[in-house]
Amino acid sequence: MKALLFLGSRRASTPPQPKRLGERVCAFLGTHLASRFETTLVDPLDYPPTEVFKPAFAYADGSKPEHLAALQRQIVEADAYVMVSPEYNHSMSPALSDLLNHFPSSAFAFKPSLIVTYSGGQWGGTRAAVGMRAYLSELGCLPVSAMLHFPHADKAFEADGTPAADQDSARWAKYASRGIEQLRWWAEAAAQQRRAADPFGASPPFRRTPAERDAP
Ligand SMILES: Cc1cc2nc3c(=O)[nH]c(=O)nc-3n(C[C@H](O)[C@H](O)[C@H](O)COP(=O)(O)O)c2cc1C
Repeated sequence: MKALLFLGSRRASTPPQPKRLGERVCAFLGTHLASRFETTLVDPLDYPPTEVFKPAFAYADGSKPEHLAALQRQIVEADAYVMVSPEYNHSMSPALSDLLNHFPSSAFAFKPSLIVTYSGGQWGGTRAAVGMRAYLSELGCLPVSAMLHFPHADKAFEADGTPAADQDSARWAKYASRGIEQLRWWAEAAAQQRRAADPFGASPPFRRTPAERDAP
């Protein structure tokens, strides 16, 4: 099973926190995902924003820049997605939504996702996570019920993703495994069913406009 681990931050500012706490959250997750998925990290710094935004449907066939076309192929080939976002103003990060918005929902569809949020504060991004359920459902990769939240990510984890000395590593591992095991279960189930019946036969992707699925 292949998983893409999306890191949802491009933040360079310091202080108060060291830059991109998401790196340590993704490092921690990468360790725990390794036994269940072949995992590839997707870093938004590798896909810098352009002056104007062109969504997926704005490109004629074959005209998408190669780095975006390559990521789209990885999205299509993946069995599951781990969406890691900091909480920015009680919402998911613009770095993550901007990157994801470059791809059609059909690339993610009929596969599961795991919502992971974190923050420098005490709530661990839970308010962002609520909105991510709606966002990821619309994107086509339905979130599993378990969500992972990491409060005070700057204090809970070292830069390399290991829990800090005063943390209970075993509890963090157990906490992470619940979401990862749900993701694995749904990823396998969805992969089997995609092989058994073409999901796009019954529910074709819209090509140009969401109006293609309007009520009569
Ligand atoms: C624009 C902005 C808005 C933020 N909003 C919230 C918030 O609503 N809730 C919260 O707990 N932390 C908030 N924070 C703090 C972030 O959780 C913290 O900066 C975290 O380190 C961001 O993740 P990153 O370091 O990977 O970019 C905000 C930070 C910024 C820059």
